[in-house]
Amino acid sequence: MKQSVEDTLLTTIRTIPDYPKPGILFRDITTLLGNARAFRRAVDELVHPYAGSKIDKIAGIEARGFILGGAIAHQLSAGFVPIRKKGKLPHDTVRVAYSLEYGVDEMEMHRDAVSPGEKVILVDDLIATGGTAEGAVKLLRQMGADIVAACFVIDLPDLGGRKKLEALDVDVRTLVA
Ligand code: PRP
Ligand code: ADE
Repeated sequence: MKQSVEDTLLTTIRTIPDYPKPGILFRDITTLLGNARAFRRAVDELVHPYAGSKIDKIAGIEARGFILGGAIAHQLSAGFVPIRKKGKLPHDTVRVAYSLEYGVDEMEMHRDAVSPGEKVILVDDLIATGGTAEGAVKLLRQMGADIVAACFVIDLPDLGGRKKLEALDVDVRTLVA
């Protein structure tokens, strides 16, 4: 019998205890990405609701959002926008500070990466506290993006990220919890 998408994804995600800090159970998707069937199913499943819709840009959050976002952008014939940790982008940027499950940081996006009114899907591998995604939403909205949805393979529901984004009126799509 064919495995469900959820089972395929859950069985290929690896958990590393105490990484990057004691007490954190790190959900490692490199094992999912390295499995051709699981990678394809994750991308297909994330793309599915938007097939046929006009999406201008996929915004991917560094680092694993680049891998998933690039594949999704290709499938939807959309452009790709990198949202990066501070100091990595070469041109004029907008910057925002954010906090996540295990720290604080700042992220940036090029000022000219999105035009007002463009339809954008935000992509990352995982949503935990939602601090990272919230920062990305702020950057995109500052540039006038119309955020169609925020998509993640993994939701850690106990950490409240989905609710945080939904409170900002963002449609959230996740594949496994
Ligand atoms: C992880 C993950 C998300 C973020 C989610 O990235 O890929 O971007 O944490 O956490 P949050 O919902 O609590 O904000 P990480 O900061 O470890 O960066 P990396 O992708 O550069 O390893
Ligand atoms: N980002 C925030 N919390 C995480 C976790 N538990 N596993 C992987 N990435 C994360």
